[in-house]
Parts: sequence; structure tokens; C-alpha cells
Amino acid sequence: MNLLCLPPALLAFIAALPLAHAQYPPPASYQNILTSPVNPNVSVAYKQPTNGTCTTAFTTQKQYTGYISIPPYTLAPIQQNYSINTFFWFIEARQTPETAPLTIWLNGGPGSSSMFGLFNEVGPCEVVQMADGRYGTQMRTFGWDRASNILFIDQPNQVGFSYDSTTNASLDLFTNEIFEPPTPPDSQLPSFMYLNGTFGTASENDSRTYATTANTTQIAARATWHFLQTWLSTFSQYNPSTRPNVTTTSSSEPAGINLFTESYGGKYGPVFATYFEDQNTAIANGQLPSNSTLPIRLQSLGIMNGLVDDLIQDYYFPYYAYNNTYGIEIISQTDQLNALNLFSNQCQPAIQSCRMANQDLFGDNEQANQLCEAAQWTCNNLTSIATAHGYFPYDIRQKSPSPDPSAAYQEYLNQEDVLSAIGARVNYTESSPYVQQDFISTGDSIRGGLIEDIADLLKLGVRVALIYGDADFLVNWYGGQAIAYAVANSLPNYPFPTSVAASGAGIPPSYASGFANAGFAEIVVNDSYVGGAVKQYGNLSFSRVYDAGHFIPYYQPETAFQIFARVIMGTDLSTAADVDLSSFASNGTANATYTASAPPAPSPTCWVRNWNGSCSTSDTEAMQNGEGLIKYGMYVQNSDSITLPSTSVNAGIPGSPMSTTSSGSREAKASETTTTPLTGVYTATGTPTSSGGAAPTAVPGLDGRVGMILSGALLGAAVMI
Ligand SMILES: *[C@@H]1O[C@H](CO)[C@@H](O)[C@H](O)[C@H]1NC(C)=O
Ligand SMILES: *[C@@H]1O[C@H](CO)[C@@H](O)[C@H](O)[C@H]1NC(C)=O
Ligand SMILES: *[C@@H]1O[C@H](CO)[C@@H](O)[C@H](O)[C@H]1NC(C)=O
Ligand SMILES: *[C@@H]1O[C@H](CO)[C@@H](O)[C@H](O)[C@H]1NC(C)=O
Ligand SMILES: *[C@@H]1O[C@H](CO)[C@@H](O)[C@H](O)[C@H]1NC(C)=O
Ligand SMILES: *[C@@H]1O[C@H](CO)[C@@H](O)[C@H](O)[C@H]1NC(C)=O
Ligand SMILES: *[C@@H]1O[C@H](CO)[C@@H](O)[C@H](O)[C@H]1NC(C)=O
Ligand SMILES: *[C@@H]1O[C@H](CO)[C@@H](O)[C@H](O)[C@H]1NC(C)=O
Ligand SMILES: *[C@@H]1O[C@H](CO)[C@@H](O)[C@H](O)[C@H]1NC(C)=O
Ligand SMILES: *[C@@H]1O[C@H](CO)[C@@H](O)[C@H](O)[C@H]1NC(C)=O
Ligand SMILES: *[C@@H]1O[C@H](CO)[C@@H](O)[C@H](O)[C@H]1NC(C)=O
Ligand SMILES: *[C@@H]1O[C@H](CO)[C@@H](O)[C@H](O)[C@H]1NC(C)=O
Repeated sequence: MNLLCLPPALLAFIAALPLAHAQYPPPASYQNILTSPVNPNVSVAYKQPTNGTCTTAFTTQKQYTGYISIPPYTLAPIQQNYSINTFFWFIEARQTPETAPLTIWLNGGPGSSSMFGLFNEVGPCEVVQMADGRYGTQMRTFGWDRASNILFIDQPNQVGFSYDSTTNASLDLFTNEIFEPPTPPDSQLPSFMYLNGTFGTASENDSRTYATTANTTQIAARATWHFLQTWLSTFSQYNPSTRPNVTTTSSSEPAGINLFTESYGGKYGPVFATYFEDQNTAIANGQLPSNSTLPIRLQSLGIMNGLVDDLIQDYYFPYYAYNNTYGIEIISQTDQLNALNLFSNQCQPAIQSCRMANQDLFGDNEQANQLCEAAQWTCNNLTSIATAHGYFPYDIRQKSPSPDPSAAYQEYLNQEDVLSAIGARVNYTESSPYVQQDFISTGDSIRGGLIEDIADLLKLGVRVALIYGDADFLVNWYGGQAIAYAVANSLPNYPFPTSVAASGAGIPPSYASGFANAGFAEIVVNDSYVGGAVKQYGNLSFSRVYDAGHFIPYYQPETAFQIFARVIMGTDLSTAADVDLSSFASNGTANATYTASAPPAPSPTCWVRNWNGSCSTSDTEAMQNGEGLIKYGMYVQNSDSITLPSTSVNAGIPGSPMSTTSSGSREAKASETTTTPLTGVYTATGTPTSSGGAAPTAVPGLDGRVGMILSGALLGAAVMI
């Protein structure tokens, strides 16, 4: 039937039909829907996303997106009376994916989606604006797929694309609150800030809100273990321990799995890794059936700007507020002293009270929950100093608001064609205030034991890399360095007591003395620059990355990639030289003393999906008065301010991939004039021409992930990506 022959009224009806669905993700379809090979109660639904959705360096790189669905009570004895549908996005390495290592990436929050890491930090693709204003994807030169297969997981439940059961609702972009059922926008406020969509059940109207996700890292660890049991058995070709042994460059060890985490991932990493190892032991002992469980063998744990232990790190919030490496005095020295006193007199005792009361892992002890939550608020005066003084906590070189990293990927991930291409069943949100609230309600961030966990991982031979960008306030590098020392100091007799090492030739000293005696070596990133400094002893390393805010790979992609590759290969982090880590120590200065000054502020962009981090007061007021307009997710007070990329940008969109990627020669980005090889890891053969100072180009500034306002106060330490 020829559409043009239809009466106009019917034509209008047909044209309107897609609009009726446009508020919600289209019904999801998959290429495979399977029962888990290890648990008949668990199901897997996945597909290869439509080509062009996430552009990779080579079209040969396979991708899989989908869900693993775990029914209620799988996590018993934990009271889990809800389904867990965990979203994943897997991408093959650029070369030899059949033998490449496997890396799992987790963003933090708690409540933040790992799609942030995929699109803004380490994934194979990034979102760019095309000449017509729409968004598409290009490959990321220093995506971590350059050296590894990568699995991005949205966890715990209700984060990002993960959900318990799908629910239509409205999302208020001003508050991040979800209202169920969907309602028309408040006529006083701009309608583009109140959108309908599909989400998990967590909402303002749901009394069960706080029961449908993990509320402690320990619970999240169990859910993720179950997820990985099914993922690794379904995609066994990517599980390093169930395929022919793959050797790393430095040893004959079989390749294990690498777990890289960021921010609140300073909790997820050590706790998850420890739980996986405990389960491995239970399998080995016969306590768990070996025919229906898989060991998850970790090779390395990377923690990037991670909050590991408040008892150690909270001191360094006021410390850094005055004594940072950029000469920025966020507070006066007097205020610093007062705040350091607040740490000693109030914050530290509150944390200790929490830890003395806390015997349970799952948030069931009311007294512990109350004490731990209270400590979080007591210490919040320290962790929120930068925010309280107008500085951008993710990068103190800038003041709030900040346009970077852009929220373009959030617009992209809410497009109907993209949701359909990846089989998403709910709309995309970057951070869930409900998940965060759950973790706050148990004071999870204050609970301890993680230094011991990391030390135990070292004893099991897991490489532990602590990596901190030095412009971040939120989880600053002095605190990270203190964590590294605390871990090393907790191992005075491992591998051998210092006394033996001092007398016996060739016996490596303990972590305590070996790490203390190791020097800070330059991290040589390429022939022309040094990207940071590293202190490395045995399997433990602490890297300070120069000129990087909270999201290191966003600010310094090449440095971040080289460190990542060296960690997973088990080499010298300074040069990528092949070394025997069992007795390796870095040489150099006693402290990392590089200093720098702040670059100029980037020009503003008001992203409606991150208005609180990126919009000026003037824009916010105009927006609330119903003035202005929104284009491509950006708010402008008048249409003259809309600027589109001036040149034609070649990018992939779902169903219409970039034509040039398969050749292997990279299409130059509009913003770049040089091309960089698509593969390979740099090995230093000499000292760079200029030492000190990271890549001078395009330090983007800051990022706008301040996100959520809880109880009227910004809970700095807990609002992390
Ligand atoms: C699957 O679910 C059934 C019914 O709830 C339960 O009895 C059984 O133990 C579960 N099996 C596994 C492997 O979890
Ligand atoms: C994507 O493109 C590759 C190479 O042209 C092709 O082999 C593959 O089947 C395509 N994948 C999908 C999901 O269409
Ligand atoms: C799950 O447990 C919570 C807390 O006990 C309870 O409030 C809720 O009603 C239960 N939900 C279901 C679906 O049983
Ligand atoms: C959202 O859904 C409600 C209820 O169906 C409807 O009244 C409202 O107009 C919708 N909002 C938008 C922006 O479409
Ligand atoms: C891999 O190497 C380990 C240790 O040498 C060995 O125990 C294991 O059987 C090997 N696995 C395979 C699949 O060859
Ligand atoms: C695992 O082994 C046990 C005991 O031999 C047996 O009862 C069970 O059916 C086996 N499970 C699977 C999935 O093969
Ligand atoms: C901060 O730096 C100042 C000046 O260098 C120094 O006097 C002070 O002791 C430092 N503060 C702390 C807490 O170390
Ligand atoms: C945390 O979650 C567990 C398991 O669902 C539940 O038993 C506990 O009551 C929760 N704690 C709080 C403070 O909500
Ligand atoms: C902590 O901050 C709150 C809010 O800014 C303030 O009211 C309170 O006095 C501060 N407490 C201390 C001990 O500084
Ligand atoms: C959810 O996705 C649909 C389909 O792309 C879109 O129309 C809608 O605006 C999205 N809602 C939100 C809250 O992002
Ligand atoms: C550190 O210095 C010692 C003594 O000069 C030397 O033996 C060792 O090889 C050096 N290590 C590195 C990593 O350069
Ligand atoms: C070097 O760093 C260590 C560890 O943080 C610290 O204890 C020491 O005071 C620092 N030394 C100097 C000279 O800054």
C-alpha cells in the first residue's frame, strides 16, 4: 500500500505512532537467550550490538551486550527478595582476542554506571558530535582494548542499565528523582527537565526502594560473583583459566583476570577480589561443588583514585586543601589546622566507633548501621571542603561548574536506536541516588578491613596497583600514597622478615621495608614525556599521575593506558621493561615532588543531564524561569549560542558504521592533526627529552559529576564515579 494514498488523518496517525513509544525504550531483542551453564535458575540474554554503535579500531573486534538475570533468593542468606538483572558490555581486544587477557572495569559511586568508564575513560569508543548536531562514536586511540578484552558491568542492581523489574516512570533531571507512575511535568518548570522513561523500581513512590539493591559492598561482591559465574561459563572462550594457558611477557603464569576499579571502586576492588579468592578456596576445599562453580582467578587489581579506608584517607582531605601540588589554597593554613583537629577529635573517633560495633557484613546490625552512617556525616565536613569552597572536587585546577567530561554519551545512550542496538530494557542514568542512599544507610564507606584484604591479595600473588591523578580532591593522591604505605607496613614479615633480608644476600625484604626503600621512578610514557612517578616493590605499586583529575584516563589517556598495560603485563611501571617482580624495586627520589600550575578554565557548556555540575547560575535560573532551549542535550539561553562542529566529523551510528576503520589506518579526528598507531605498548629505551610534566595538550579541565544532593548537603566522599 502506498502511504501517500492514505487520507491525511490516517497519515498523521501513522506518523504519530512512533512518538507514542518514543518516551520509552523499544522492546529489547537478543540473538541468544540461554540458561546459565552453571545454574539452571539463571538466564542470559545477549546480542552483538548493531555495527556502528560503539566504533572500534578494527571491525573484527566482537562486542556483546545484554543481561544476566538472577532470581530472588540466589544470594541467600542475604534477604534478596528481588531479581537482579545485570547489564554488561563486552569488547574484544584489538589483536588476538582469543589469547588476550580479560579485564573487568567497574566505576564507583556507589551507584555510578560503568558506561561512564566505557564512554568517557577507557572503552574502545567515545561519543562525538557530528556536523549535523547528532551524536555518533569514534574509536578511542588509547582505549584499553589496545591491550585486553574488556568487560564493563553495571552494578550493583539498579545502576545504569541494571534493574530489578522494569517500571515506567518520570525522571526529574533537576533532582535525579524518579516518580512512578509517569506524570506530566510541573507546568512551572521546563518540560525538558522532566522526562518519561523506563527504570528499575527504585523511586520516590516505592516503599521498597531501599530493599532492591545491595546496601553494602559485601552484598555487591556476592551478586557480582554470581554474575561472573554465569558470564565466564557462557563466554568461556574469554575466561583465561579455561582456555589453553596464555603466558604474559614476564612469566610462565597462566593469564588471570584483571579487575580495575575507580573511586568508590577502592571498596569494590579489595572486597570483591577477596570474596572471589575465598570462593576459590571453598571450591578447592570441596565446600562448593566444582562441577557447577568456577574459580575466578585474579592476576591484578587496579585501583584508580580509590577510597579504600577513611580512617587513613580522611586526614588528607584538609591536608591537600592547603598543601596540594598546584599551589592552590582552597582553605587557609589556619582552617587547615582546625580541620585536621576535626579529623583527630571527631572524625577518627567516629570511624573507630563504627568499626568496633560492626560485626556484620550485610547491613543487618542496626547499631552498626547508625554509628557508621553517623561517622560518614561527621567526616563529611572534611571530605566536602573543595565543594564547599566552590572548587571542582574532581579537579581542583578548576572551579565549579565545569563542562567536562561531557554528558553527550548520556544523550547517546538514551536514543531509541542505541537502546535497541544494545538490547537495553531501561533508560540510561549515570548515577542512582537510591543505590547511593542505600550504601549511606549502612555507612558502608566507613567500614574497615580493606588494608588487610589488599595485604592478603598480595600474599596470594595478586598484583595491586594504586593509581592516583594528582589534581583530584575527591580522593587525593596523598591519601592514596598513605594507603600504599599502610598495606606495605601491614606486611613486616612477608615474604621474609626484614632482619633476615638485611643479613642474607639475595633474599627479598618484606613489603614493609622493601616498599619504604623503593624510590619514585619516572613513568616514561613515550619518547617525549614523563606522565607521573611510581613507587613499586614486588607486586605492590603506587603511581602518581601528573595533571590528572579524578578520571585519570579522561585527563591523561596515554599515561593511563601505559600504566594499565604495564600492570597487566607485570612489568616495570616506569619503563615497561620485563623484570622479575618478586625482587623488583623502583629506584628514584624519596618523594614525588612534581609541581604544576592550573591551566585556563574551559569554556562553559550546560548539559541538562548534568546541570548541577556543568550549568552556570545564570543558565540554571533562566532554565527554571522557562526561558531558553535545549539542543542535543545542551541548554542555551538563546539559539545564537548553538555552535556545531565546523568540519564534517566522520563517526559511526547504529547501523551505519564508519567506513574507514577496517583498513586499520585511523581516520583523524576533527580535533587532532596527528595519527597514533592503533596497537602496541610503549617500552622506554631512554630518558625522554623533557622530564617532568604530562602531556601539555588539551587538558580538558574538569568534570561535572557532583550529581546528587542528599539531605540538603553534598556528601562529598560518597558521591563518586
Ligand atoms: C534453583 O531454584 C530452586 C527453586 O527456588 C532451588 O530449590 C534450587 O536450589 C536453585 N538452584 C540453584 C543451583 O541455585
Ligand atoms: C559487523 O560488521 C562485521 C564486519 O563487516 C560483520 O562481520 C558482522 O557480522 C557485523 N555485525 C553485526 C552485528 O551486524
Ligand atoms: C522484600 O523485603 C522487604 C524487606 O523485608 C519488604 O519490605 C518487601 O515487601 C519484600 N518484597 C517482596 C516482593 O516480597
Ligand atoms: C509522561 O507520561 C505522562 C503519563 O502518561 C503524560 O501525561 C506526560 O505527558 C508524559 N510526558 C511527556 C514529556 O511526554
Ligand atoms: C595452565 O597452567 C597451570 C599451571 O602451570 C596448570 O595447572 C593448568 O593445568 C594449565 N591449564 C591448561 C588449560 O593448560
Ligand atoms: C555435580 O555433582 C553432584 C555430585 O556428584 C551431582 O549431584 C550434580 O548433579 C552435579 N551437577 C552438575 C551440574 O553436573
Ligand atoms: C603545608 O605546607 C606548609 C608550607 O610548606 C608547611 O609549613 C605545613 O607544615 C604543611 N602542612 C602540613 C599539614 O604538613
Ligand atoms: C541492608 O540489606 C540487607 C539485605 O537486603 C537487609 O537485611 C538490611 O536490613 C539492610 N540494611 C538497611 C540499613 O537497610
Ligand atoms: C560541619 O558542617 C556543617 C555544615 O556546613 C556545619 O554546620 C557544622 O558546624 C560543621 N561542623 C564542624 C564540627 O565543623
Ligand atoms: C528514554 O528513552 C526513550 C527512547 O529513546 C526517550 O524517548 C526518553 O526520553 C528517555 N527517557 C529518559 C528519562 O531519558
Ligand atoms: C636500582 O639501583 C640499583 C643499584 O644501582 C641497581 O642494581 C638496580 O638495577 C636499579 N633498579 C632499577 C629498576 O633501575
Ligand atoms: C615523603 O613521603 C612520606 C610518605 O608520605 C612522608 O612521610 C614524608 O614526610 C615525605 N617526605 C618529604 C620530605 O616530604
